[in-house]
Amino acid sequence: MYYSDETISEIFARNDIADVVGMYVHLTKKGANYWGLCPFHGEKTPSFSVNTNKQMFYCFGCHKGGNVITFLMEYENLTFQEAVKELAERSGVELPEVRETEEDKRNRNLIQRLYEVNKLAAEYFFKLGRTERGKRAIDYFRKRGLTDETILHWGLGYSQPYSDDLYKFLKSKGYNDEFLKDTGLVTINERGANDKFWNRAMFPIMDERDRVIAFGGRVMGDGEPKYLNSPETKVFDKGFNLYGLNYAKHSAKKYFLLCEGYMDVISLHQAGFTNAVASLGTALTDKNALKLSKYVKEVYLTYDSDGAGTKATLRAIPMLEARGITVKVVNMKPYKDPDEFIKNLGAEEYQNRIDNAESSFFFELRIKASGYNMEDPKEKNDFYESVAGRMLEITNELERSTYEEAFAKHYNVDFKKFHELVIEKARREGPRKPSYRTSDEGERIPKKKYENAAEKKLDDKVLQPQRLLLTCLSDNPTLYKKLASVLEVSDFSEGLYRKVAELAYRFCEESGSVNPARIVGAFEEREEQEKVGAIFQTDLPGEVNDAERAKAIEDTVRKIKLNSLEEKINAAIEAEDGQMVTELLKAQAALKNRTNLII
Ligand code: UTP
Ligand code: MN
Repeated sequence: MYYSDETISEIFARNDIADVVGMYVHLTKKGANYWGLCPFHGEKTPSFSVNTNKQMFYCFGCHKGGNVITFLMEYENLTFQEAVKELAERSGVELPEVRETEEDKRNRNLIQRLYEVNKLAAEYFFKLGRTERGKRAIDYFRKRGLTDETILHWGLGYSQPYSDDLYKFLKSKGYNDEFLKDTGLVTINERGANDKFWNRAMFPIMDERDRVIAFGGRVMGDGEPKYLNSPETKVFDKGFNLYGLNYAKHSAKKYFLLCEGYMDVISLHQAGFTNAVASLGTALTDKNALKLSKYVKEVYLTYDSDGAGTKATLRAIPMLEARGITVKVVNMKPYKDPDEFIKNLGAEEYQNRIDNAESSFFFELRIKASGYNMEDPKEKNDFYESVAGRMLEITNELERSTYEEAFAKHYNVDFKKFHELVIEKARREGPRKPSYRTSDEGERIPKKKYENAAEKKLDDKVLQPQRLLLTCLSDNPTLYKKLASVLEVSDFSEGLYRKVAELAYRFCEESGSVNPARIVGAFEEREEQEKVGAIFQTDLPGEVNDAERAKAIEDTVRKIKLNSLEEKINAAIEAEDGQMVTELLKAQAALKNRTNLII
């Protein structure tokens, strides 16, 4: 980690979590906590809480949690260092020169050099496009309707028909093989060095900060593969970057046009739609959706109008909506994609299609309807049943009734009768929550918190009491002395929980209190930080008086100790350490006989 403990403590002290979160989320005070709509998943009723005592946030819907630093990291998509910097600037904390480890330094240099080499390669391809041979690529782009201004704007270029042209060029600039291997621009093996791209029309891929991070190369004419793309590198994350975002982010429009290909984005921008972006050669990912949600609250999907495009659209809708984005679908029939559409019908007609875009809801219904033969009364009823089922996924009743009405109107169905069907279905099946979550690939995966029953059982039996106790300790640090006389750090489960317990104990020793936010800050992986955040959000269910609370804590300590002894006994048996087993069994018996552990 870069910064000292003191610096991080000062950052926490000067940046109250409710103030910082309040800049992004509208918060209302209710009881001890502040509440608001979770910025990390779409929701209509607030389940996002901010606790100023603990200086933590936690969402009871999506289970994200953390401190003021991790909030910024997640929300603004910053690294730990960047988030600290931003908070320091905001609160006037002077940051000392960073303590950079050797590894950090090497990594930073590598990343800087990757940007450098990509830029150099982009300039090289661009210049080649202005040579006699490279004119082929420029002619290709012109033939596809791009103006010279557009070609320049996107830095389009050409790669030579030799297999190691770029390699030789980069070597001449002083880059060594070991580094070049990491750039994705060349492959190097026993048989020698080969350029990734040759004899292709070249598209540099820029990130949202205008840095060249990768390339796409198209065959000029027919050939396989049609497009070649850079592999992922330390600066190129395919699931994250969006082509055209560096320009689209400056558009005044409140929505983005999301399409499939390089040429679609370029054609749209040329036609004046400078709010077009594309995910890069892969299906939209949740990371893409998150990134989009930072810029816009509305996305118009303008994917290919073939079967694959429809499928991609159906996958993209729930992912975008899960990030709070409203989705509309642009119809490009009879053309294949935006590029062809614009070429044939022009920008004005395209704007027309945007204005008449279909809401994601009706798009889904229309696709659903196409699977039923409406001439057949039985199938027609099945369709209504299925739509009624879909309606039940909308938990807000007012919103649902709006959709029911819209459906009835659109499909010429009697609203009252349809509404009765929905009510009747709800009675039969109970209200529904979407029973799936959406994977990075857009698949709907059934929601499951645990991988299997055994894992859930282990969690309930072993981890739940530890979470509860750690939360109680952070709420009431005077427990520490008694607690520490019964439970050692090694009584907590190996791994994350033990580390958290160790830190909590240390903080109690040092300062007489537990600071969950600082404990979260001691973990570097985001996933760990979230888990740690959740540990400190485990309260006793319902209202309890002091006596009940004391009793509950007593029981919890006992549970943890017994679980720990059980585990140690098993380990000793495994290790065939008879003496240890005897000792532990004695301790277990003694514990069972002791009535008061900490009361
Ligand atoms: P399409 O096959 O729809 O091509 O691929 P396109 O965009 O219409 O391309 P043109 O108009 O023929 O030039 C859409 C996107 O999928 C990725 C590229 O990012 C492309 O822009 N793709 C496609 C590949 O990565 N590799 C391929 O071989 C094909
Ligand atoms: Mn195309």
